[in-house]
Amino acid sequence: MPASAPKRLKGVILAGGRATRLRPLTYVTNKHLLPVYDRPLIFYPLEAMARAGVEEVLLITNPEHAGHFLQLLRTGREFGLRITYELQEEAGGLAQAVGLAEPFGRHSKLLVLLGDNIFTHDLRPSVQRFAERDRGAVIFAKQVERPEHYGVVEVDGDRVVSIEEKPAHPKSRLAQTGVYLYDERVFSFIAELTPSERGELEITDLNNVYVAEGSMRCETLEGWWIDAGTSHDELLEANLQVAKLRRAGEL
Ligand code: DAU
Repeated sequence: MPASAPKRLKGVILAGGRATRLRPLTYVTNKHLLPVYDRPLIFYPLEAMARAGVEEVLLITNPEHAGHFLQLLRTGREFGLRITYELQEEAGGLAQAVGLAEPFGRHSKLLVLLGDNIFTHDLRPSVQRFAERDRGAVIFAKQVERPEHYGVVEVDGDRVVSIEEKPAHPKSRLAQTGVYLYDERVFSFIAELTPSERGELEITDLNNVYVAEGSMRCETLEGWWIDAGTSHDELLEANLQVAKLRRAGEL
């Protein structure tokens, strides 16, 4: 077992949403239960939590599919985790979903993972450093070909200067991935957010609260990363890459 993160850091995985971009695959099935090579997509962020040394994990999903997750993952013991579950009644945005973790995560720092992201990077050193001494927040970024599909990050050294959600004219090629570290103040910041034009509480708006305070750091997500939920082609690419990595024993 990896050394565990100090108890004051807990994990949250978001596995709700409507996944309209992956229809018709997602009319009946939750996106995070779709196969990626030999296992359901949700296994990969769960294993990333375990690799990072975070043992207590809250999985947030929509009511229609919650029973499927419970059947599949149960207590989480097979992953070396203790999983508890929370429902997001409507897909009100990523920040709204994180806000639902308050009863679970109050007084803790959080590692938040989007349930459709797969990556090889070992988060443990960053998580331990953050748990032991950091205030503020950390995002993990990656150079991409088409930044307009993601939150786009502008940095000055390791300080984040701005984050723009899917901008038409990106200021850099650095994408914000689905990996976030937050300090204990995250719930009070979420409580102050207002819905975006599409009616959601946006993770980028939450992150920009830390940016405005000057307390948002950016680290690089090394190795391979994919947001498997963006399109059918990305889901296919995830399957092909994961097959290679798993055959090579690298994931
Ligand atoms: O993957 C990285 C990207 O993720 C970032 O670059 C963007 O800044 C960030 O907004 C997000 O963009 P996406 O368009 O990929 O978000 P998506 O709607 O796919 O939702 C991400 C995850 O959160 C997915 O696993 C489903 C879950 N989710 C989504 C919504 C809207 C929820 O659990 N509840 C929700 O209400």
